[in-house]
Amino acid sequence: ERTRVGIIGAGPAGLLLSHLLHRAGVESVVLEARTRDHVEHRQRAGVVEHGVARILRAAGAGARMDRAGAVHHGIELRFDGRSHRVDFAGLCGRDVVLYAQTEIVKDLIAHRLADGGDVRFAAAATAIEGIEGERPRIRYGTAAGEQVLACDFVVACDGFHGIGRPSIPAERVRHFEKSYPFGWLGILADVPPSATELIYARHERGFALHSQRGPRVSRLYLQVGNDDHVGNWPDDRIWAELAARFALRDGGWELATGPITDKAVTPMRSFVCEPMRHGRLLLAGDAAHIVPPTGAKGLNLAMHDAALLAEALASWHATGDHTLVDGYSDTALRRVWRAEHFSSWMTGLLHRDPNGSAFDRRVQSAHLEFIASSRSASAQLAENYTGLPYV
Ligand code: FAD
Ligand code: DHB
Repeated sequence: ERTRVGIIGAGPAGLLLSHLLHRAGVESVVLEARTRDHVEHRQRAGVVEHGVARILRAAGAGARMDRAGAVHHGIELRFDGRSHRVDFAGLCGRDVVLYAQTEIVKDLIAHRLADGGDVRFAAAATAIEGIEGERPRIRYGTAAGEQVLACDFVVACDGFHGIGRPSIPAERVRHFEKSYPFGWLGILADVPPSATELIYARHERGFALHSQRGPRVSRLYLQVGNDDHVGNWPDDRIWAELAARFALRDGGWELATGPITDKAVTPMRSFVCEPMRHGRLLLAGDAAHIVPPTGAKGLNLAMHDAALLAEALASWHATGDHTLVDGYSDTALRRVWRAEHFSSWMTGLLHRDPNGSAFDRRVQSAHLEFIASSRSASAQLAENYTGLPYV
């Protein structure tokens, strides 16, 4: 069996790539280890950059996002018991769309299936062969046994723990990595959001984030220890901790609580694999790079990679010209490193470092004060958060 582009992983990167390739007349097959129900309900990110929203609209996949998503023109920073709004519209003229990754995944799967696309669930890739030649193959397992898919290119969109990155000989890549001494506990709760905009809170007890999933559902995150687990966090403890971290000095704000429907701990890590290609194997999204979630960049980087690759592979398919495929890694990595900087910067700005000193915490407060009082300092945050316009 063969196809043009064999895509491993039906996350945002793999699905968007397959959709864009289809629109450019290039056939692909997506292999996904998990079930459709699993990938459509896996709770993850929620912020869509300005430019990524535009990519989805231009690809005819933005209609439900524009109906059900919410345009956000700013975020709130809370620190030392007070509140400061970062006004994206006024500072950089851009905005973001709050629309859950689960919904983007549902939309893209629906588009692929409506267009006759080939997305195979419960089909786990087990090996990638022949990437140094012109006829790479993916071996994958299904209920019916092992199958082989031959293709012109393999694109690994299989996340951080996939098989794509480790299929590149170790001496051909370089890994850059940073770990953090904390993680995030994320919850979904059936309660209307307590604020209209996102709140990023820095508190002596640790970071907290207030987000939302539409008018009736709240999405909240808490900084926890990096070896912490949900068993340590009964619902009452979560609500009490969130209320403490969001509290304002003069009161006047209350966190509404409700039934918690999802609870998970996410580790924090920064990671980049260079280059994002070896021979006929290309890496996209979390398979190639990870950012800590504080800057809301993981989903957006994955979608950008897919858009770059779709253009490159379509150009190669139409004319045999390899220029864009050859430039893919360098082009993608420029945006990746910008996001790596912003995400680790934003993480350091807002989290309590368990190994930090009282001096470090005073400097952190001074940094937040500066952002709250300087237009140029807050404009840097706004530009990065909404997504720099290049590429
Ligand atoms: P993924 O969405 O991970 O998709 C990879 C797909 O490949 C998966 O469906 C997986 O099942 C499949 N796969 C893996 N191995 C194989 C195989 N061998 N064969 C076939 N299929 C395979 N970002 C934020 O900005 N904010 C957040 O709050 C946030 N929370 C997150 C929470 C968690 C638990 C995780 C893991 C990530 C989170 N992220 C967050 C990051 C963001 O969700 C990711 O950056 C985004 O999902 C990347 O998309 P992707 O398509 O590259 O990878
Ligand atoms: C969400 C996740 C993030 O990592 C972030 O920075 C903002 C919002 C969310 O899931 O809504």
